[in-house]
Amino acid sequence: MEDLKSRVKELHQLLHRYNHEYHVLDNPTVPDSEYDQLLHELISIEEKHPELKTDDSPTVRVGGPPLSQFEKIYHDTPMLSLGNAFNEEDLRKFDQRVREKVDSVRYTCELKIDGLAVSLKYVNGRFVQGLTRGDGTTGENITENLKTIHAIPLTIKEPLSIEVRGEAYMPRKSFISLNEQKEQNGEQLFANPRNAAAGSLRQLDSKLTAKRKLDIFLYSVNDLTEIEADSQSEALNNLDELGFKTNKERETFDDIEGVLSFISKWTKQRNNLSYDIDGIVIKVDDLSQQEELGFTQKSPRWAIAYKFPAEEVLTTLTDIELSIGRTGVVTPTAILEPVKVAGTTVSRASLHNEDLIHEKDIRIGDEVVI
Ligand code: IVH
Repeated sequence: MEDLKSRVKELHQLLHRYNHEYHVLDNPTVPDSEYDQLLHELISIEEKHPELKTDDSPTVRVGGPPLSQFEKIYHDTPMLSLGNAFNEEDLRKFDQRVREKVDSVRYTCELKIDGLAVSLKYVNGRFVQGLTRGDGTTGENITENLKTIHAIPLTIKEPLSIEVRGEAYMPRKSFISLNEQKEQNGEQLFANPRNAAAGSLRQLDSKLTAKRKLDIFLYSVNDLTEIEADSQSEALNNLDELGFKTNKERETFDDIEGVLSFISKWTKQRNNLSYDIDGIVIKVDDLSQQEELGFTQKSPRWAIAYKFPAEEVLTTLTDIELSIGRTGVVTPTAILEPVKVAGTTVSRASLHNEDLIHEKDIRIGDEVVI
């Protein structure tokens, strides 16, 4: 039995290491077949000796027994959202407000990942609880679903008790193959990777979530006392060291001009990424300056989200379909020549009501902007 225990420990260490190399560092050192072989060895030991199975065993990644509902849990501190900026003027105003309060500010720019905000709690270095944002005050307990995301470490390098927050998302490749599969099965498709990620995390059966190939980027630590950082950029580097996955496309600038150039770079390059982003998050880098700036009721004064303008494409209106609702209201739908925009294919659009059609003089055969 002692031999078996030490073999289990060894398997945990190897599988955790290979998992981290593959899913966090993007740098596998062994072939998939070797990982699978070790995982199956562990599964069969756990089947024969259930007492050797722990909550942080690499085998929990395949999902567990289904739940009947998600438990609602209060966040230790509310999960807030960010104020928005839509243009250069908004950003310059933000910069001005910041500099009225603090001197010589540096900004860290991060990609705004288009997924779902989640919170991950670690006690003594072990992942114990994962919540959705919910209404910001309470979230849903989706721990078992989050454990199936290979980029989330089940244990971290040091026995810290911390809460980290980040964005869970579905990479474009997983989204496309999921929709292909749904199409083959005659099921309704997901409109975009964000909805697909939300649907996957809302599964009561974590074995289904495990099949969905989700990923995550962590972007903040809730209680910073444990990780000894003076700035946001240092905090993210520390998260990397602990074994978390952070987004590497971040940059720190001495002024708002740098921020503006980062934004224009990513406005052009966003489609080359393997995941969707919907903007850039700009944060005051220095944590003591963040504290000085504080929060409004809804959001921090030390950060803002720049939102990309909606993408526009041209296509042709090929038909107008009328549907009659339960209450007798007629809703017209535009049937369009399918066109790709913002990572999805659009072939229908609501025209809301007949008045709108007359008002805008919409006719079949028109060239329209989506
Ligand atoms: S910082 C106080 N950083 O954007 C909130 N948010 O309203 C601090 N998001 O739903 C959030 N990428 O989940 C931050 N690099 C990033 C982000 C990010 C995506 C999401 C976040 C929230 C929304 C902001």
